[in-house]
Amino acid sequence: MATIGMLATGVAHEVNNPLTAIFGFAEGLRRRLPALKEKVDPRVMEDVEDYVATILRECRRCQDIVTTLLTFSRQKTVSFAAVSLNAVVNDTLKLLRSHLKQRSQAKITVRVDLSENLPMVHGDEHQIKQVMLNLLVNAMDAITGPGRIIITTFQSSQGAVCLSVEDSGCGVPTDHMDKLFEPFFTTKRSGKGIGIGLSTCMSIVKKHQGEITVKSEPGSGAVFTVKFPVNTDKTT
Ligand SMILES: Nc1ncnc2c1ncn2[C@@H]1O[C@H](COP(=O)(O)OP(=O)(O)OP(=O)(O)O)[C@@H](O)[C@H]1O
Ligand SMILES: [Mg+2]
Repeated sequence: MATIGMLATGVAHEVNNPLTAIFGFAEGLRRRLPALKEKVDPRVMEDVEDYVATILRECRRCQDIVTTLLTFSRQKTVSFAAVSLNAVVNDTLKLLRSHLKQRSQAKITVRVDLSENLPMVHGDEHQIKQVMLNLLVNAMDAITGPGRIIITTFQSSQGAVCLSVEDSGCGVPTDHMDKLFEPFFTTKRSGKGIGIGLSTCMSIVKKHQGEITVKSEPGSGAVFTVKFPVNTDKTT
């Protein structure tokens, strides 16, 4: 794992520099396009605009992958404190609302069912947000066309503070179940996913001495549930 992490960081750093240059020059080209407009055949101009837009869009995609890889492998100092799981859910949803719109997946209805008086979690807020974000993005990816996502927080009978993300998406085939949390296991097309979301979730949850489980009926969605230990005597 450590070696994969180091390799990923190395590659990400190496790719980042040329990528920044490509992005910067493509931006420069885009800024100069209006000046070319009168001098160039309009049909050629249309192609050039299209090419530049494509270069910029694909650069952004590469930058996203690099950022994900760096986040995945970075040994950040973790600071454990009392964290409100409900606040984490609300913050992450705010982040993702624009993502939902961007991907024109507004047909996905999101239901949020947050338990009141939930005890605080003992954990690192940033990392817990990352878990939530990865689970939500996966849920969105699993849904093609209309669908629903249900996000729930609750306290288990053993006292753990829990978050579950349920979707009505494609579900997980039985023979994929034990591979889901392996680094770089993905069923998504290249550029769409690299297979580190769930392995990152697993390593974060383990660091928190928590648990992550999945239930799925292939074809009718999946539920991912994360359990965190309680931070003593505080409530949201
Ligand atoms: N909610 C879900 N429903 C169905 N399949 C899922 C769900 N979440 C994860 N999976 C399956 O598990 C695989 C691994 O998920 P993971 O989040 O680790 O990687 P990814 O989403 O493919 O890529 P990345 O998260 O790195 O962008 C996915 O490719 C998908 O096949
Ligand atoms: Mg993912």
